Amino acid sequence: MPKATRTRQGRRGGKNKRAEADGGPVEPEEERGSIGPRDDGGLKVPGTSGRRGTSRRGGTYEKGQEKLQRHTKIIKYEVPFPDHFAGWTRDGEMVKRMVKELWPTLPADLPNASNDPSLTLLIESQKPTETQRKAQGPGGGGAWLWDKLPAAEVAALEEDGAPKYLAMRWAECIPDETLKMLVRLWDTLNRLGVKFPDAELQRSGSPALHLGLWELYMDLAKITTDSRQTKLEKSAPKEEILAAIDALCRAVKERVVPRLERLMKRYVPEQQRVQERIHSRLAHRRAEQLTERPDMDFGGTFFTVAVKEGGSERIHIDWNDNLHKFALIFAAGDWEGGEFCIPQLGIWIPLRPGQVIAVRTRLLAHCTAPITSGRRVVFTCFTDSFLLEHTLSDKDYSIL
Ligand SMILES: [Fe+2]
Repeated sequence: MPKATRTRQGRRGGKNKRAEADGGPVEPEEERGSIGPRDDGGLKVPGTSGRRGTSRRGGTYEKGQEKLQRHTKIIKYEVPFPDHFAGWTRDGEMVKRMVKELWPTLPADLPNASNDPSLTLLIESQKPTETQRKAQGPGGGGAWLWDKLPAAEVAALEEDGAPKYLAMRWAECIPDETLKMLVRLWDTLNRLGVKFPDAELQRSGSPALHLGLWELYMDLAKITTDSRQTKLEKSAPKEEILAAIDALCRAVKERVVPRLERLMKRYVPEQQRVQERIHSRLAHRRAEQLTERPDMDFGGTFFTVAVKEGGSERIHIDWNDNLHKFALIFAAGDWEGGEFCIPQLGIWIPLRPGQVIAVRTRLLAHCTAPITSGRRVVFTCFTDSFLLEHTLSDKDYSIL
């Protein structure tokens, strides 16, 4: 029996217990745990406590907080912490088999997490138990950091070493004008004949360009092959293509990253602190490469962006990500469909222009529902697990 099935036993809420007994998806406990007025009548919004601002009731700051509160919904699940794939190394077929067996509802038929596009969604589940934390599977890049790090460093990551949320959807994040600009720059790149790698068939039939830096299986991060277009002949078009890649990355860096950074600081500040530490190590160790291609440096909130047409329609785990880390996903264009499906949580999350989904892509199997009409260019911003682990084990750049 696969190790992962053990997490299906344990405490469940009544509604979810019934849903599971019926073989159906586990539904979110929609209102329970929603942010609401506290006993003292104040408003509690994650990451905002202690924030300075006018103390006058009804002032600008209070109004902003009230608006944020009205537009935030916390979805809490009574399911155990979803570590079904946590201990496994790369095995895409196993993921497909297990998803089919444990969550038979087709991803695209899952219930919608929310019909209200103006809501920020914060998705929580129970925290991992001690047993779950200690579970050692075949190991690999995605294993729990606290199995590898001294206790003091784990404690410094955050209170108990695990991010609070499994997934988030941030509403009204990226202006329309920026999305249009990104599509224009993407079209220029394609018109010039940018060279794509082969499609990663475990995810999708359409290829993605990976731009920026990563450290996959290396000791030190490198600018990705796609960013350098090494498969193209040295010629004038190549110079133009590299300039177009830089222009696209610069637009992401200048127009999108500051917004993502603010949201990461608000909702997962400890994670953002670790990201900044990775960035400071990388900026030092990769000084020369980054001087030549400064637009490949996204400032620390993430290090690589994968860009492609469509979506990743096949259920998969991103094995090179880390169990703790969020990938940030947004899309540009005008399309129908393409919702973000998470069978382990029994939901899909709508993703519309301007919104961003933050999700732990090494922890939760996921895919995109079919795009039924229109065009969608999707940007997935991520940090590979090697970058994270090498930074935490680099004495000069430890988090303490
Ligand atoms: Fe993915």
